[in-house]
Amino acid sequence: MTREARPKKADWSEGTARKKQAGVSDMTMLSKITNEAINENLKMRFHNADIYTYIGNVLISVNPFKDLGIYTPEVLKSYENKNRMELPPHVYAIAEGAFRNMIAYSENQCVIISGESGAGKTEAAKKIMEYIAAVSGGNSSSIKEIKRMVLATNPLLESFGCAKTLRNNNSSRHGKYLEIQFNAGGEPVGAIITNYLLEKGRVVGQIRNERNFHIFYQFAKAASQEYRDKYGVLGPESYLYTSAAGCLDVPNIDDTKDYADTIKAMDVIGITPAEQDDIHRMLATILWLGNVQFVENDEGNSQITDPNITQFIAYLLEVNPEMVDKVMVSRTIETSRGGRRGSVYDVPLNIAQAQSTRDGLSKAIYDRLFNWIVMRVNKAMQARAESNYIIGVLDIYGFEIFEQNSFEQLCINYVNEKLQQIFIELTLKAEQEEYVREQIKWTPIDYFNNKVVCDLIEIKRPPGVFAAMNDACATAHADPKAADQSLSQRLTACSHSRHFELFDGNFTIKHYAGDVTYSISGMTDKNKDQLMRDHLELCKSSSNGFLQGLFPEDLTQDSKKRPPTASDRIKISANELVTKLMQSQPSYIRTIKPNENKSPSEFDDKRVLHQVKYLGLCENIRIRRAGFAYRQTFEKFVERFYLLSPQTSYAGDFIWTGDSKAACIQILKDTGIGPEEWQIGTTKTFIRHPETIWALENQREQYWYNMAQRIQAAWRQYMAVKNENAGKIQRAWRQKRKAFELIKFREKGDELLNGKKERRRYSVCNLRSFNGDYLYVNDNSNQTRGYLLREAAGIGNQQAIFSLGIDFLVPRSMRSARPMPRQLVVTNDQICIIEEKVVDGLIQHATVAKAPIASIKDLAMSPFQDGWIVVHLESQPDLVFNCDFKTELLAWLNNISHGRVRLQVNSVIAYHNKNMKTTQLKFVKNESVQQPVFEKKTVQVCSGLPAGTRSQIAQVKPPPSAARVSRPQQVSDSAYGHPQQQSQPQQQRHPLNQQQQSPPRQQQQQPPPRQQQQQPSHSMAAARPSYSSAQSESARRPSAPPPPPPPVAEEPQNLCHKALFDFKDTGDGMLGLEAGKTYEILEKNGTGWWLATRGGVEGWIPSNYLNPEPEAPSRQSPAAPVLPRPPALRNGSGTNGAGTESGQVDSMAQLAAALASRSPTTATPTNQKPNVPARPGMNRFAQEDSDEEEAWE
Ligand SMILES: Nc1ncnc2c1ncn2[C@@H]1O[C@H](COP(=O)(O)OP(=O)(O)OP(=O)(O)O)[C@@H](O)[C@H]1O
Ligand SMILES: [Mg+2]
Repeated sequence: MTREARPKKADWSEGTARKKQAGVSDMTMLSKITNEAINENLKMRFHNADIYTYIGNVLISVNPFKDLGIYTPEVLKSYENKNRMELPPHVYAIAEGAFRNMIAYSENQCVIISGESGAGKTEAAKKIMEYIAAVSGGNSSSIKEIKRMVLATNPLLESFGCAKTLRNNNSSRHGKYLEIQFNAGGEPVGAIITNYLLEKGRVVGQIRNERNFHIFYQFAKAASQEYRDKYGVLGPESYLYTSAAGCLDVPNIDDTKDYADTIKAMDVIGITPAEQDDIHRMLATILWLGNVQFVENDEGNSQITDPNITQFIAYLLEVNPEMVDKVMVSRTIETSRGGRRGSVYDVPLNIAQAQSTRDGLSKAIYDRLFNWIVMRVNKAMQARAESNYIIGVLDIYGFEIFEQNSFEQLCINYVNEKLQQIFIELTLKAEQEEYVREQIKWTPIDYFNNKVVCDLIEIKRPPGVFAAMNDACATAHADPKAADQSLSQRLTACSHSRHFELFDGNFTIKHYAGDVTYSISGMTDKNKDQLMRDHLELCKSSSNGFLQGLFPEDLTQDSKKRPPTASDRIKISANELVTKLMQSQPSYIRTIKPNENKSPSEFDDKRVLHQVKYLGLCENIRIRRAGFAYRQTFEKFVERFYLLSPQTSYAGDFIWTGDSKAACIQILKDTGIGPEEWQIGTTKTFIRHPETIWALENQREQYWYNMAQRIQAAWRQYMAVKNENAGKIQRAWRQKRKAFELIKFREKGDELLNGKKERRRYSVCNLRSFNGDYLYVNDNSNQTRGYLLREAAGIGNQQAIFSLGIDFLVPRSMRSARPMPRQLVVTNDQICIIEEKVVDGLIQHATVAKAPIASIKDLAMSPFQDGWIVVHLESQPDLVFNCDFKTELLAWLNNISHGRVRLQVNSVIAYHNKNMKTTQLKFVKNESVQQPVFEKKTVQVCSGLPAGTRSQIAQVKPPPSAARVSRPQQVSDSAYGHPQQQSQPQQQRHPLNQQQQSPPRQQQQQPPPRQQQQQPSHSMAAARPSYSSAQSESARRPSAPPPPPPPVAEEPQNLCHKALFDFKDTGDGMLGLEAGKTYEILEKNGTGWWLATRGGVEGWIPSNYLNPEPEAPSRQSPAAPVLPRPPALRNGSGTNGAGTESGQVDSMAQLAAALASRSPTTATPTNQKPNVPARPGMNRFAQEDSDEEEAWE
């Protein structure tokens, strides 16, 4: 077994969740197909409270006569979107199937519910409506309103159309076909009710222990006081129509509660209070009409016993009381001669005739009232939008057999015959015929076709029962008795049928559901069902518009045509119903009544067996077993399932070019349905088992699911790419913007120099951003170096806009001033010089000079490429220092002083010294010095780039984002030469290199090759040759890369040096020195730190601790990895401009150690250790200005 084919792991809890079913839930699975076996199965299930059983798609429902708790919202929900076999049989499954098929196949559906009176048809119909209302979509108020109205029709029409009979306490006394209209989305938009033949005879009399329509008891028992006063309403015992049959109450029926429900339903439907008043007025009229009694007068004619009653009826009908009296006791007869109207006579009525006339009026009013209610309900439920499909639910009065059966029973049983006919047509006959037509292999199955019985009743020639009745009415219309006799004679014509028997004023019809004997007496009259002209005139004379509306007939029109009889009407509507049902896809519910006693425990085998037989369940199972559960035209099948084959669909589109039949075959093959499971007919595809069609439906669902997943995945991918690109654009924009700001600020610096000062090549090529605070003075963390500087500067909460290590010209006692490392801090308000030193192992900071920004007069610089600055101050000593970022400092000072502080350029700059004496700083050109040299207040400097040279803005590459560049940890690591971090400061340190070579990423991350490190020309100090203007020009061109650094003249290398002094290895890649020992120099550079090795250990050493050795020891390969740069601790600014961020230190301990090992601020005696080189520029200064010209202290 392949992995995919492994069955799903069984769920042990399955058995506990589901109720154990008795018998078989689908009787096509019965091992023996006999009526007895079916009966036995139904019995087992009935006793196990499993009232529903399938025969394929037909639901058999046995009335439980008790509440089984199986219609809860949870149960309802559980059937939603499930196929029939997934859950135990249920009326909800039938509703679900109809609803889903309507949407899936765009076909109208109908649910035909049949069975005897009291078998549970009305209950089933209500459950179907409830289910559809619950599962159909639509949140709009109009759809919700329609749903509410559809459900409200049940209590309303049950009150007016149902009554307690011997068979059923809530027996439907009319037929009802409710069609729910749906829009294309499967939302209910409207509904229509078709009403079939109300048993109006019940209004005027019922057999013993039956009741009138429920509404009369509800009204009489629970009418409001207003109605009682207005319409003279009394209890049901006060009216003959409600009390004569001796049954006022029904077990389990609460008339008072039901009346409230009826009124509520009227409100939901939108029946106005005025209309409700009129409805009640009509009900009261009928009740009071029943109480009109007659006595025989002297002439033997009838006389009204109590004229007060007729007077009250006249008040209720809003007519002339005399007219009521007249209508009650006489009848108007019009003679006709030769088809022309003759004289009109008032013929007095005997008591029997008077009673019949009175009842005729009551029946007419109630029948019209009922039809008006149905019409009014239909008006309220009129479709709100275009209706695309319909689900019809047919709940008709059930087949009934009483001791005395009359015209009503004949009509009811006739309609049931017609329904059985539909069932036979569609499930037994049509199915078999279809197999033949479609050339499907088939063995015919015998069944009883009740068409002969339908014909017996409705056929015209030879005359059937209805035709005989109509003939009798036509010939003997004046006298009912004569008409009945005439009917007896005419019915002899039906005797040829073996389903008909005529005897002693009765006739028997052998219906599909049993033999029923009908009494001929009164039949013709009931069939004639003609409204008396007197009644019509009476109602038309009413000043009550509602009553007039119930009788819309035009009295002036005198049609010669015979009005349709009751049998005509029932025949027409039954056939219309059949046509309607045949146009929809039917679902069947066949209800079975288990006993005659409404008992929840009794299962009457004989009765049930009888029903099983006449319902044809056995044949139903046989045909079902032999046949195919599903058939569909090729076109519809393809339309539904073309998605399942790659040959017929691509990306949801239909791509098949052949015919539908071939497409069906292709789909069935591609979906892996076994050939025994399907057959192809001439126009339809047949599938044997329902499970197969459900499997196809599942595949179809999976297809949508997969497609949805694909679309979601594509969408997610699209969104990811979109977001990523948006991020890139945003990042680029932010960087660009920062770059633009940088460019602007740098341009400002260039402008301020204004062609007055030669430029260092590095300055114009370097694209570092003007970060300003290189000493992290703005870092507020406690006890950091920035914090201590801040404290020392006393700047409080002010932000440092510029801070950097500088070489400040420090006056010395009796000696010339000397540049010493100091820290410069500039805020918006002040400029401050701070000294940082270690005293007893502790770092101390002290402000050595301070001036308000407002006191700065200008900044003076030489016209050459050196970094010396004189800050001229108002009335205090000027500040003189060498600063690597002079352009930036100038830009900042100009900025914060709003342009006031400007640059003065002069090769001789006068300044006030500590004693406010004017002294001079001179600048001379000396091409032999590579770096500016300060000696005796004169700075010697070689030529730089021409004064007008501008930063290479066009080549601006956005700097790394601030977050990346200024991360303190990174900076601090690099500052102290941690090997793992060294590549980054190295790159920052050599922007030219970085830009020109643009090595691939991987290469960049590797440690720089030694050769590169050995090129001091890459460092800022070495990158200051003078350039021709042509070179500068080309460097300015945006596209051209900056010129490579000039080659450094090869120095004769003496690789072995002897240590003059001890030097302690402070870690961070340094190598300790022992005085007198010889060290091999691996790399020399201008920083004052050389890379040396001894005994296989490599490290950085201060070059001025060494003396060259005449003989070099044999060179060994370094055992340890090469450290690319010396520890950078210096006066805080890092070793050059690009590395300024390295001013941050890891810890104060490191700082202390570093400070302890660096140059003291005082001059070192020659017999003392030389200073540890502070930074590349330091050794440019003479160690000592011996010729002191002025004493500063
Ligand atoms: N599923 C059910 N669960 C519980 N009780 C039911 C169920 N179906 C029917 N009944 C009971 O049986 C009674 C008769 O059912 P119902 O009125 O539906 O019969 P019917 O077939 O419509 O009869 P008729 O042809 O006389 O109108 C109901 O009033 C109810 O008490
Ligand atoms: Mg019913």
